[in-house]
Amino acid sequence: MKGIILAAGAGTRLYPITKSVNKQLLPIYDKPMIYYPLSVLMEIGIKDILLITSEKEQENFKKLLGDGSHLGINMNYAIQYVPKGISDAFIIAEDFIGNDESVLILGDNVYFGKGFEEKLARARENLKNGRCTVFGYEVPDPERFGVVEFDKNLEVISIEEKPKNPKSNYCATGLYFYTPGATKNAKKLKPSARGELEITDLCKIYLDEGNLSCELLPKSFNWVDTGTYDSLVDASVLVRNYEKTNNLKVACLEEIALKKGFLSKEKLIEISREMINSGYRDYIIELIK
Ligand code: G1P
Repeated sequence: MKGIILAAGAGTRLYPITKSVNKQLLPIYDKPMIYYPLSVLMEIGIKDILLITSEKEQENFKKLLGDGSHLGINMNYAIQYVPKGISDAFIIAEDFIGNDESVLILGDNVYFGKGFEEKLARARENLKNGRCTVFGYEVPDPERFGVVEFDKNLEVISIEEKPKNPKSNYCATGLYFYTPGATKNAKKLKPSARGELEITDLCKIYLDEGNLSCELLPKSFNWVDTGTYDSLVDASVLVRNYEKTNNLKVACLEEIALKKGFLSKEKLIEISREMINSGYRDYIIELIK
């Protein structure tokens, strides 16, 4: 199974914050934004990851994440030269995905909270049964997102990109599990009115085949699309409060690597010696005591 993070957006809605710093490198409380989507892929158990960025930002991401060996993962990098939409990621990632299953996560989506692991495990199960999965979350402003509608058995009926008259209050968040062949299907898509290969259009192909599932994330769960000034602050506050209340760190990549067996304790001890002294390092030192 391959993981893809799409972090190529210019973050124009956050201007001037994003004039000289890439959106996905901005802090969400105590770590760079990109840690959060990366933590989700690692939590799923994915070790082979492709990070798609714009050309000018690639170096900065490499400085942060390198080849991934310090986390026991393989980081690969690709460039989206023209912002052609989310489904374009599967075309860029064609060789990387090969004949594998793939999980795509958007670089500005933050997920954390109890019960997530079970939802992710269910999406993995769905793949075994030839079904793709999106993750629904109730929002007050569904017209800003992809909107998923389902029947009383939670079977998906429709999925629409930023509809004027949303058929439900459930947003399809930026995490997608696809069976092999996503690239082939992405190549069939036509650009939407806003000139993009929409992720919801790719989902529709699977919906029409009867192969699209939706996992609902409960209200108590935390999901934030950090694309606006307010949501950027909201995400930081949510993370800070959750970390302090639960006495843990969200999206601590080294902790997940240890839990998943990507890194041995001995290796992490070695790595921690090289880390800059900070609250983040203190947390890791506690883990390996
Ligand atoms: C994108 C997707 C949309 C999804 C959202 C989640 O929206 O197109 O379907 O609900 O991410 O963050 P965009 O970032 O293009 O506004």
